[in-house]
Amino acid sequence: MTLASPRIVRTARAIARPAERNAMTFVDSPPAATADTPPITLAGVTKDFVTDSGDTVHAVAQVDLAIEPGEFVCIVGPSGCGKSTLMDMVAGFLPPTGGTVSVGERVVTAPGQDRGVVFQQPNLFPWMSVRHNVELGPRLRGVRARERRELAERFLTLVGLEQFMERRPYELSGGMQQRCQIARVLANDPEVILMDEPFGALDALTRERLQLELLEIWRQKRKTVIFITHSVDEAIFLGTRVLVMSARPGRVILDQPVHLAGPEAGSELRSLPEFVALRDKVSAAIYAAQNVHGATPVDH
Ligand SMILES: Nc1ncnc2c1ncn2[C@@H]1O[C@H](COP(=O)(O)OP(=O)(O)O)[C@@H](O)[C@H]1O
Ligand SMILES: [Mg+2]
Repeated sequence: MTLASPRIVRTARAIARPAERNAMTFVDSPPAATADTPPITLAGVTKDFVTDSGDTVHAVAQVDLAIEPGEFVCIVGPSGCGKSTLMDMVAGFLPPTGGTVSVGERVVTAPGQDRGVVFQQPNLFPWMSVRHNVELGPRLRGVRARERRELAERFLTLVGLEQFMERRPYELSGGMQQRCQIARVLANDPEVILMDEPFGALDALTRERLQLELLEIWRQKRKTVIFITHSVDEAIFLGTRVLVMSARPGRVILDQPVHLAGPEAGSELRSLPEFVALRDKVSAAIYAAQNVHGATPVDH
């Protein structure tokens, strides 16, 4: 049984290429990104924090990474291994202690409209309607009222919130608030979407529905996505590539390509032997990562 709503299944079918409809288990490569999507490069990135008591915390060590346009990269690893720190450096919230993060030719030094961030807890403004929350980014960019209303309506419809546009965020469930946060990010048309455990606080059913919706959006929009999760299952289900980080200081110890199909395959993908084998491999790497500091890369 698939957990996708009829709307998702219809749209997913409409966008699946004919060859995929019959043999929808494996694809050779991720969908091509649009020409204006830049690659993301991390070169020798480290991050040390100095705590209030004067101790130095080595959070991230020597990460070299090249993320191609349109990739869906999932990052997993033990708690406290530096996943959020790594993403915060890509977002421009934190400067690296060493090395550089670049999006295309630009070195990241600050947050920017080219990188949209979806947090674990929806940070919507409670005094604004759902629609006004989504319109905020375009409004700050000077987009005219009519056009930003159209943008908000388009993206809220895409995430299935067309009936809830005039509601306040606190009138929505947690899953609906997360959908609204995703619509808000999409309305800014970022080239890169950064998601830090966005479905972590949701119940299992809502989480699986949102996973399918996110895949559908990714297939339509071809954005580059970096997605942090605690769930190995979620990482393999969503990602075209799964990175496992070692315990602190975090470095990448497994870089695993995933060539499983997207939304058409639905939840039944999870019972495929290939899916199960990948899950075992990634779980074993995380288990090793918990015990190994400064681990050497794991072969794949
Ligand atoms: N501002 C900070 N000051 C000091 N230590 C920090 C700060 N932010 C994160 N850390 C530490 O850096 C390590 C990595 O944190 P984080 O990136 O949040 O891990 P993860 O997201 O993988 O759970 C942790 O040990 C955390 O306590
Ligand atoms: Mg974190």
